[in-house]
Amino acid sequence: MMNLRNDFPILKTKLGKRNLVYLDNAATTQKPDCVLEAMRRYYEAQNSNIHRGAHYLSRLATEEHEKARQTVADFLHAPCPREVIFTSGCTAAINLVSQILALSGMLQAGDEILVSTDAHHSNIVPWQMLCERTGAVLKPVPLTEALQFDMLAYQQLLSPRTRLVAVPYISNALGAINPVKEIIDSAKRNNPACLVLVDGAQSTAHLPVNVQELGCDFYAFSGHKVYAPTGTGALWGREDLLEQLPPWLGGGEMIREVSFESTTYNTLPFKYEAGTPNICGNIVLAEALRYVQNIGLEKIDAHEMALTRRMYDGLSELGVNILGTREKRGSLISITVPGVHHYDLGTLLDQMGIAVRTGHHCCQPFMQSLGITGTTRYSFALYNTMEEVETALSATARALDMLR
Ligand code: ALA
Repeated sequence: MMNLRNDFPILKTKLGKRNLVYLDNAATTQKPDCVLEAMRRYYEAQNSNIHRGAHYLSRLATEEHEKARQTVADFLHAPCPREVIFTSGCTAAINLVSQILALSGMLQAGDEILVSTDAHHSNIVPWQMLCERTGAVLKPVPLTEALQFDMLAYQQLLSPRTRLVAVPYISNALGAINPVKEIIDSAKRNNPACLVLVDGAQSTAHLPVNVQELGCDFYAFSGHKVYAPTGTGALWGREDLLEQLPPWLGGGEMIREVSFESTTYNTLPFKYEAGTPNICGNIVLAEALRYVQNIGLEKIDAHEMALTRRMYDGLSELGVNILGTREKRGSLISITVPGVHHYDLGTLLDQMGIAVRTGHHCCQPFMQSLGITGTTRYSFALYNTMEEVETALSATARALDMLR
């Protein structure tokens, strides 16, 4: 099995005599040496503002920054880098789409936006804000009893008024891989003008993504969940659509010509990148994506799935309630235990050196649909090992012995 722990300095952290077992990767991933070195390299040898400088460092930083955009485009199999807008993360990317759709006048009162019940707040609230501004109506797509996206209910909800569908590729609280290709195909069959946004926050580090094959209109992701620093991420959008949609933030870089009488806007992608971007972060994001590419997403997926399945089976033997099915799952598992508060379990695990996440995971509507307030979530990354899974399972068994 893969063992890449040595690439990640923070994983050498000792808690007493124990190694830290970090299973909170759906919240954020740790950073490999190459990413840390790229940050240092940028500030030691490349730091400058981009695009407008007439000097050597500015040309160098610009070149690195635009190469990074190409790396993101290649990673997502996007047709061209003009379609990649750097953002501060997935939340900013989804909010950008919400804002420009509101400004575009494309949505009218009574239009409908469908969002899956397992969506993260950042893939719900921006659409509620869009509804407030346009009079559109937000409709949740339910999950089946097995906690899978309910395709039948979705087909019934699709109507001539459906203008936007927003789904997570992998849900962060439940862990299910949603059938995004079928979701997109159905939306487009129902109405070719219906837009589909895929929230890639949890999928980008785990599954190969090809936005052209998926046929979505927007794909959003955060860099910090793909081994890059926080404050990085991107929105991919179809070029013809982004050309047609209005700009949002005004300022430097997004303009072609400004006068007090009128302003004309820059071409893509700069039209959506007002102000000095996170130059270092974007360059380092590309470094993180290359790190993932060099290992290979198929290999990463196989490794993480072996860990996740063992964890699933081990947790099943402990008699806990695991949300969702064993298969069609990303590398995370959420559990509830009758009579045990998720926070108590998380706290005891922390005392045994296991980092997990507890709570509603920014998915309150999903929790409400299940009648619970939260879960304990174990989430895996490429550096986790089978030994860590066994350690986490024994620690969970001990904690449950104390709590039940
Ligand atoms: N959205 C992140 C998570 O699921 C923070 O933990």
